[in-house]
Amino acid sequence: MFVCVCNAINDRAVSEVLARSPQIGTPAALHRACGSKPQCGRCLPSMAEMIEDARAEASLGCALRAAD
Ligand code: FES
Repeated sequence: MFVCVCNAINDRAVSEVLARSPQIGTPAALHRACGSKPQCGRCLPSMAEMIEDARAEASLGCALRAAD
């Protein structure tokens, strides 16, 4: 599924970038990491949501490792 139609960036590419660079905190930073720039901006809410989801998963992973 395309996350950013203007730059032809799909959800798999976004997930890979977020896995490699968990410090990314904004859609603009995510675009930079993907080697792109926002154009129409319609993808920014979806990218923000993917960033939040990645952070939640990382937090859960940390909590589970700490509980071991
Ligand atoms: S859909 Fe990403 S900039 Fe247009």
